[in-house]
Amino acid sequence: MNIETSFTLFERCLRCMSGLLQDMKFYPDNHPTIRKNTGLLMEQLFQYFKLKDELQFTVIENEIIYENKPRVELSESLSLFISCISGKKISRITFLKTLPERELAEFCKILLGTDRFPKHGISWNHYLKSEGIHHISCDFLSVGVQEATELEQTTGPIPEDIFQQGLEKLNELNEAMLSGKKMDYDYLFHIVNYLTPQVLNHYEELIYLGTVKAHNEYTMEHMMNVAILTALLGAALGLSRAVLDELCVAALLHDIGKTAIPTVIIDKPEKLTEEEWKVMQTHSFEGAKKIFLEGRFPEMATIVALEHHLNYDGSGYPSLYRERPLSLASRIVTITDFYDALRGTRVYCGEMPPEEVYRMMQDLKGKKFDPQLLDIFFQTIGVYPPGIEVELNTKEIAIVVKADRNDIFRPIVKIITDKAGSQVPAPFSVALTERDEKDFIRSIVRSIPPIQTADKK
Ligand SMILES: [Fe+2]
Ligand SMILES: [Fe+2]
Repeated sequence: MNIETSFTLFERCLRCMSGLLQDMKFYPDNHPTIRKNTGLLMEQLFQYFKLKDELQFTVIENEIIYENKPRVELSESLSLFISCISGKKISRITFLKTLPERELAEFCKILLGTDRFPKHGISWNHYLKSEGIHHISCDFLSVGVQEATELEQTTGPIPEDIFQQGLEKLNELNEAMLSGKKMDYDYLFHIVNYLTPQVLNHYEELIYLGTVKAHNEYTMEHMMNVAILTALLGAALGLSRAVLDELCVAALLHDIGKTAIPTVIIDKPEKLTEEEWKVMQTHSFEGAKKIFLEGRFPEMATIVALEHHLNYDGSGYPSLYRERPLSLASRIVTITDFYDALRGTRVYCGEMPPEEVYRMMQDLKGKKFDPQLLDIFFQTIGVYPPGIEVELNTKEIAIVVKADRNDIFRPIVKIITDKAGSQVPAPFSVALTERDEKDFIRSIVRSIPPIQTADKK
């Protein structure tokens, strides 16, 4: 049998799997893109298994070895995929011919998961079997004690995990506040201790979590999103780690005064009456009071809770006599709070498209928002933040990968379907700033709304 023929098929399988792992970072399991790409990978494996009974490859020092030959080009173009494999300390993977789709999907999830390997006293293959995976086997990369310690230090939990952990802590905090119990605020500092370094290390993924994740304004997701966006904007401004920590605490607590507002008002889907609106507005003051009386939070948190509905031009609430301008922290949180509220609270119509949010916020530049901060905010996350699906003028569909600071309308995107609407076998990244002699090669026409999940109204 021709080895190079099997290598071509092998290469396709690996590229499909690499694309699938990338997409799984952005999309939930049941998203059509994931289902389609899993099917595509199964199809490539099916073709491969017509030639061979097993697909096996080795990863040594960032190099893919197939049929005893290092595959330099493939290794170079799949560096992220390789780091995913070596991050789990796997040296060799074998897929068996009868591999079912469910096992493949489970295995991909394990590769992307936060569990560290090798697990104490349990082998990879034993672990895979315990997860119901019988048609994939993995061998350990043998590392010395010193290497293992280094790896342990450099592979922190992934941002999704941080987000979930933070949410759980915030939910506990909220419940304790609502039931009038004394709260252990160490939780909050614990979240911030996790969050700030993650913001500095996982910029793009956190933008995605902070801008795309489904939520509604009154849930803890809102607090978490605002904290992430605030830390991102603070980091873009070059603020120190210590200030970023304080900013994060302030953002996480900015709406804590809502725990003092009756839930009939908080949860009311219709427009509030004038009377109810007055009660709602007291959350700024109530929050500031709570934080101040607690006595262990940075002063910045009290100020932000009090000022986050005050506008750049002096309007807003509560009406205060002010001798000094709004604090920088409050001007930051006003932007991130408003952005998140707009992105998530169209109860009956689904999320507001990001381009519409941008237009609306631009209209309020200099009135509600500090103009310079607003510019830096959109330079940081782009008009179309990472993870958003967009339609291009070429009729291709793409996922936004990274904002371009020099042109907020032209991020780097990954093309996933071609002009005819067919799935691209190997999704590829392009910069929308690329031009030919006449004009830009590709431009965004519109963002595509995410699939409405069953639990969303
Ligand atoms: Fe608020
Ligand atoms: Fe808020």
